[in-house]
Amino acid sequence: MTPAVDVSARSSVVPPLVWPAHARRTDAVDDLVDIYEPALNLVTAPLDADASVLEALTRAANEVPCFEFVKETSGAGEALEYALPWFEGHAGGRAWLGLAQPLVRLFADLFEAERLGVRLTSSDKPMCPRFHVDDVVCRLVVTLVGRGSEFLGEPDVRRKLLGAKESPVEREGATIHQLAPLEVGLFKGEAWPDNKGRGIVHRSPAGSDRRLVMTVDLL
Ligand SMILES: [Fe+2]
Repeated sequence: MTPAVDVSARSSVVPPLVWPAHARRTDAVDDLVDIYEPALNLVTAPLDADASVLEALTRAANEVPCFEFVKETSGAGEALEYALPWFEGHAGGRAWLGLAQPLVRLFADLFEAERLGVRLTSSDKPMCPRFHVDDVVCRLVVTLVGRGSEFLGEPDVRRKLLGAKESPVEREGATIHQLAPLEVGLFKGEAWPDNKGRGIVHRSPAGSDRRLVMTVDLL
C-alpha cells in the first residue's frame, strides 16, 4: 500500500498535546492501522503537503463559493475528478486531488473496501456544531483548510445527553481536544463491531471562518 504522493512524513503543524487514552496521534499515515486496536476510537496522522499545495488549497477555500461535493467512488478514487468543476478552474482543485486520491486508496486498503463515499465541503458554518457520535463503522475526516474537528476524552462525556437538544454533552470544565489542519483522523463510530456506546464524541469547531473539509465513508 504505497500512496502516490508522500503523505507519511511528520508535519510541523501538529502541536505536541497530551490526548486521552482512547485517542492516538501518530507520526505517519501508515500508522492509521492502529484504529484496529479495540481500546482506541480515534487515530490521527499528519498529512505532509508542500507550501504551494497549502497555498493553493487556502486560496481556493477563500476564493471559490461555498460548496458541497458528494460522490461515490471505487477504492482508486477515480470519481474524485468530478469535484474539479466545483473549484471553477482554481489550482486548488488539482492540489486537493493530489492529496485526496492517495487518502481514499489508503482508506480503501485499510478496510478492504471497494465502494466509498467521499464528501468535500467548503463552508463558513459549522456542519455539526454539537458534540455527537456517528452511526458509521469508521469515518476518515481531514480539515484541509481552517480549524480542525474537536473531540472529548471519555471522562468528559455525558453520553446520556447525546442527541439531547440543549444540555451540553461535555462535562463542566471539560478539555476540548482538537485536530490540526491537515491532520487525518479515523473516527470510530457506533457501528464498529462491539463499539456501541463507545463511538468517538466529536463536533465541528465554532466560528464563521471558511473551512475545507473532506470525509470518506465505507459504503
Ligand atoms: Fe460526526
